Order: sequence, then C-alpha cells, then structure tokens
Amino acid sequence: MTKQVITPTRSLSREMEILLNKQIMMEGESSASYLSMASWCESQGYEQSATLLYNHAEEERGHMLKIFRYINAAGGHARQPEITGIKHTFQSLKEVFEDVLKHEISVTESINDIVDQSLKTKDFATFNFLQWFVNEQREEEILARRAVEIFTIIGEAGVGLWLIDQELGKLEAYAAKVSGVS
Ligand code: FEO
Repeated sequence: MTKQVITPTRSLSREMEILLNKQIMMEGESSASYLSMASWCESQGYEQSATLLYNHAEEERGHMLKIFRYINAAGGHARQPEITGIKHTFQSLKEVFEDVLKHEISVTESINDIVDQSLKTKDFATFNFLQWFVNEQREEEILARRAVEIFTIIGEAGVGLWLIDQELGKLEAYAAKVSGVS
C-alpha cells in the first residue's frame, strides 16, 4: 500500500493533485462536448434535447469547479485544462445520446479509479469528497441509458423523432427520481 507524500503546507499529495487535475480535464471536456451537442440539437430543431444538453453542460462546468476549489483549498493548484477535439456534427439524435452514455461510463470509471487510489493512500478527505461524484455518476448513467432506450421503445419512424425529443426533455426529473440522488 502506497502512503501519500505530503508537506506541512499541503494536505493533498502531488500524485492525488495530478489525478484530480486529470478529472478537471474530463469534466471540462464533458461540459464542452455537451454544449456542442446542445447546439447541434438546437440547429436541427430538437428543442427539448437542446435544453437538456445546455443544462447538462452547465452542470459539468459545476463539477469541474468543485474540483478546482477542492484542490486549491487542500494546498494544491488546480489547472484550467486545454480542451480540443470537440465533435460538432452528428449523424443522428440517437448518436448524440449514445455518445453521452459512452462518455458518462468513462467518467464513472475515472472517478472509481481515483476513489480506489484515495483508499490505497489513506487520503480519506479526498475519498469523502469523491462520494458526491460517485452518486452523481450513478444518476447521470441512469439518464444516459434511459435516453438510448427511448429510441428503441418509441422508434424513429413517422412522428417518432418528435416524440423522442419530447421524452428526452423529461429525463432530468426521471433520473433524479429513480436514482434517489436529488
Ligand atoms: Fe461530471 Fe457527467 O461527469
């Protein structure tokens, strides 16, 4: 078991600071990606999906800022990430939400890895801090998985896509209720 290396001026190890800065990058990428998706949806007339994703982009920025404040309060230095490679166009509305689901699963894996590391190094403050993210990821995966399911349940033919967009607009409330987080 590795012991965390700290100095008298900081309560966060350098290793944990690096991991949390990587998570900042991931949350920043989430925010930028969802903003881009929201814009594409709006440009295609999917108003409900656009609203959902605009809100989601704001939430992800909030997640990023939570980590900024945590790192700095613990004596570290949070870094504004360089974000590039954002996808701007999509083949379909379904592809947007399939991308959201894939992305959220990768964020959950990243959070889980940092939680694992915090336990291995007995960094219980970071472990405790990350529990909010563990719960949040559960809710976000529920939302994204349900979004993808809705395409199969309703079907995209005829007025299907319009109905799907309406249902996607209700997903925030659904995920909060099912997960019990909010
Ligand atoms: Fe904050 Fe959806 O990851």
